[in-house]
Amino acid sequence: MIQAAVIGGAGYAGVELYARLSAHPEVGGVAMASRTRAGERLEDVWPHLRGVAGTFVTPDVAMQDADVVFLATPHGQTAPLVHQALAAGKRVIDLSADSRLNAEVYAEWYGPHPHPEDLLQARYGLVEAHRRDLDGATLVAAPGCNATSMNLALLPLAEAGLLTGQTPVCHVVTGSSGAGRNANDLHHFPELNENVLAYKAAGTHRHTAEVEAVLGRAARQGQHAATHGERDESMRVTFTPHLAPLTRGIHASCVVAVGGEMDHDRLQALYRDRYDAEPLVRFADDLPHTKSVAGSDLVHVAVRHDARTGMAHAFATIDNLGKGAAGQAVQGFNVAFGFPETAGLRLDGMWP
Ligand SMILES: NC(=O)c1ccc[n+]([C@@H]2O[C@H](COP(=O)([O-])OP(=O)(O)OC[C@H]3O[C@@H](n4cnc5c(N)ncnc54)[C@H](OP(=O)(O)O)[C@@H]3O)[C@@H](O)[C@H]2O)c1
Repeated sequence: MIQAAVIGGAGYAGVELYARLSAHPEVGGVAMASRTRAGERLEDVWPHLRGVAGTFVTPDVAMQDADVVFLATPHGQTAPLVHQALAAGKRVIDLSADSRLNAEVYAEWYGPHPHPEDLLQARYGLVEAHRRDLDGATLVAAPGCNATSMNLALLPLAEAGLLTGQTPVCHVVTGSSGAGRNANDLHHFPELNENVLAYKAAGTHRHTAEVEAVLGRAARQGQHAATHGERDESMRVTFTPHLAPLTRGIHASCVVAVGGEMDHDRLQALYRDRYDAEPLVRFADDLPHTKSVAGSDLVHVAVRHDARTGMAHAFATIDNLGKGAAGQAVQGFNVAFGFPETAGLRLDGMWP
């Protein structure tokens, strides 16, 4: 049985990892780490874990006996933890942005990477696009939540060559848990309640780099082998995130010209063929809701064709803490370790 450590266990993504790993048939133990809450019981920090045994330990203690280390810690602070865990012979699942891009692209969006040599073994964990690369991976970079919604909305179009020469325009609506447990300012209830606002507009959100890397690689498949998280000059995506008064959920709407030869039935068939065998993707005619994926590790996808303008409208909804974070991280862990892809995952949503 695998021993797992969760660093950042007092954060939102960390506690969602706990839910999945403690129910995972191949995981024998989960050490939950926090620097500030070490020594406290899990239930002291997480009200919904009342009655669950367990105590927080420090990150160093949690790593000691672990076979796999999940890092649910902020970007910029995670690369040194990745380095420490890899140097100790652990396998790593990094939920932060610190392992998602190559060193050059990372420097452009986040600043210099302190351990660029570690990025050479990183594999980008969007399983639906990179399943074969992840087999046996020692460092899995769990994708960003906004990036996941856009990539899964647009992947079939990219693979079919329909994004080449186009610039998809995406609007992404996101809930407040995306900013973590200690968020403030506009995430404060009186300011976010009854409020919707755009932020990081006009191509300034850092997840843009992940979307262009994934879709660029998908569009080029078979033409040359792509490296991890590289820049793709031929793929441009522009997106604007919007903050909305949701606890959980991301809703991506992406629009791109697909020309007059496309029609509704062909577009539907393209998505259905691509996604029917994917265990975590539910493609349907109905437009997706954030509520129907809340609490689950699924992505709901839909697509429409606007015959008047020749545009495809592609939609995806996820729970930012599920498929957008912990669910996707455990899915990547499963593929890297050769376990059934959905082991430990949550395959049903909630309604209402
Ligand atoms: N929230 C989401 O929807 C989401 C989605 C996808 C990816 N992610 C990524 O997942 C990571 C965690 O996000 P979150 O929302 O769970 O954040 P969070 O609620 O703020 O939790 C982060 C945790 O990391 C710990 N931490 C901070 N700096 C650390 C360090 N240097 N060493 C060890 N532990 C440290 C903190 O606990 P202590 O100070 O007690 O140690 C804190 O509880 C971030 O990189 C985020 O971008 C989040």
